[in-house]
Amino acid sequence: MISRSEILDSVKAVALQIHEDYADIRPVMVCVLKGANPFFQHLLEALQDLKHGYTTEYLRASSYQGTLTTGTVKIGGGLVYGSLGGKHVILVEDIVDTGTTLSQVMPAIQEKITVKSMEVCSLLVKRLEVPPKVDAKYICFSIPNHFIIGYGLDYNELYRDLRDIWVISQAGIDFDASTLDK
Ligand code: IMP
Ligand code: MG
Repeated sequence: MISRSEILDSVKAVALQIHEDYADIRPVMVCVLKGANPFFQHLLEALQDLKHGYTTEYLRASSYQGTLTTGTVKIGGGLVYGSLGGKHVILVEDIVDTGTTLSQVMPAIQEKITVKSMEVCSLLVKRLEVPPKVDAKYICFSIPNHFIIGYGLDYNELYRDLRDIWVISQAGIDFDASTLDK
């Protein structure tokens, strides 16, 4: 769907937008693991090229479906809340689909610590009929509603290691991952 070189060009353009919007500000770049990791690294590299300072943090969001209808997202990954206090925070995500994850992660952070601002930078946003619950301020690509893999994005932990972004095929869905265990 999107080649590596197209990805990198778009990441550079988004880094430039951040550079301009955050003049004289060192944002805290928060990587939402695991999917956003390759995007995060290239985004930081592009900010370095622009000589734009930043600090980094990491979190892992996992959703738990409780007995009630609403799934709740738990924040893990050793996020140090204190390092976000009083700072301008940019959450770096791989993809905003329904926006459910971020719609819970953002208030959960703000409940624990007061930040100066919080924005979302997402590699991808899916075009759905229902708009996402959270708007990403910075977006590399808006894509049609397909299940995609590669460049950090997985299907049951497979295909994160592809260097480009692909729409998953039926063969990719049917593939028996246990055949890889040697
Ligand atoms: P949301 O909570 O519906 O916005 O979904 C966000 C999360 O679901 C993302 O951070 C991804 O981890 C995962 N996700 C959504 N769509 C895809 C996809 O097409 N491929 C791989 N992961 C996806
Ligand atoms: Mg994700």
